[in-house]
Amino acid sequence: MRRCEPNALVCDKCGRRYPVFENRLRCECGGLLHFEIKSIKNLTSQKPKIRGVWKYKNFIPIPKNAEIISMGEGATPLIRLKRIGDMLKLKDLFIKLEGSNPTGSFKDRGMTVAVTAAKAMGARAVISASTGNTAASMSAYARRAGLQAIVVVPKGKIAGGKVSQLALYGAAVLEVIGSFDNAMKKVLELSERYRGFYLMNSINPWRIEGQKTVAFEIVEEIGVPDWIVVPVGNGGNIFSIWKGLNELRSAGIIENLPRILAVQASGASPIANAFQTGKYADISSPSTVASAINIGRPVHWERAIKAIKESSGQAVAVNDDNILKSQLDLARSEGIGVESASAVTLAGLRRALEEEWIEKGERVVLIGTGNALKEADQIPNRFPLNILQSGEGLEIFRKLGGEM
Ligand code: F0G
Repeated sequence: MRRCEPNALVCDKCGRRYPVFENRLRCECGGLLHFEIKSIKNLTSQKPKIRGVWKYKNFIPIPKNAEIISMGEGATPLIRLKRIGDMLKLKDLFIKLEGSNPTGSFKDRGMTVAVTAAKAMGARAVISASTGNTAASMSAYARRAGLQAIVVVPKGKIAGGKVSQLALYGAAVLEVIGSFDNAMKKVLELSERYRGFYLMNSINPWRIEGQKTVAFEIVEEIGVPDWIVVPVGNGGNIFSIWKGLNELRSAGIIENLPRILAVQASGASPIANAFQTGKYADISSPSTVASAINIGRPVHWERAIKAIKESSGQAVAVNDDNILKSQLDLARSEGIGVESASAVTLAGLRRALEEEWIEKGERVVLIGTGNALKEADQIPNRFPLNILQSGEGLEIFRKLGGEM
């Protein structure tokens, strides 16, 4: 069994190569950087007891003797959605329940790798801009590693569960007026100016290396599906999944690649718009109920569009009503609780079936990126509690319980 020897950080744009353990987030030319992973024969290491992200250590570049900062992230359930799948006449419909990660979102996959690398490179503090999930995950992993966490968030625009996590982990919180895009701008300025802060947003190439493992798990469990449906905000996750799938193909582990359906909220859909019109434009004041993906200037938009095109996939924007309807359907038809940003996948799938991009009889996996409890504060307003009035209560007992 060979160990992973990633030989370089490589620029997407000009192909320039840099040493792996340089705290560098962009190329001299301004392009984004990714790790080049040499073709590996074996997907997993020989230790069968390891579950989750680190099972795929062969594919993850980290310093040799790094202390791994982990909380058992990954190995999330892939759950069949029988009722909804039958209704939509699909052969198989699954959801990958990323909300069951330690801090309740897929971000933990990338954070275990990025915080491990940051610590190994001598970082004392980590920083990120976030709509909440990245911030919560980074704060937790920073505590576990004994590092300081600073998060920059759009004031008043992050869901209550995520605020609670920031309070619990005691992150230093810098609020900015505006959207995630303003927070991202601020954080880039700060990390340029104060080089001791390690930037943990997904332009950090280590994040991508952890997040790609969701693709490995899906393929190990059910082989290659026809479609993977991904909610898209900043575009880091769709890029990660596509990178992981391509590495599997280069290693000869799979032959065919799935197609990717990218789904955005219609108030924040620069990537879906660009895919449909052929012309990219930022959205200056993004707005959607799905606060996690309320992003108008995605850092990875070019990578996202490239992944969709290379996969012969599609991109679509869905409106807030359909997002909430899908959140409710997943909960009430299947018992699956996801946050609204994850529910966009079901709304997008419905559109894709209407458009006949996805055909009946195909196998589809939705990426359920975050846990419903992230929005615990908003849910009773969106879907009121079914409180029984005294008379009505009695009626229900009679009807469902049967009279004595
Ligand atoms: N779903 C959830 C629940 C998210 O939190 C995010 C991103 C996405 C989907 C989209 O992923 O940005 O890689 O395209 N949340 C980031 C954050 C922006 O700050 O937590 P993406």
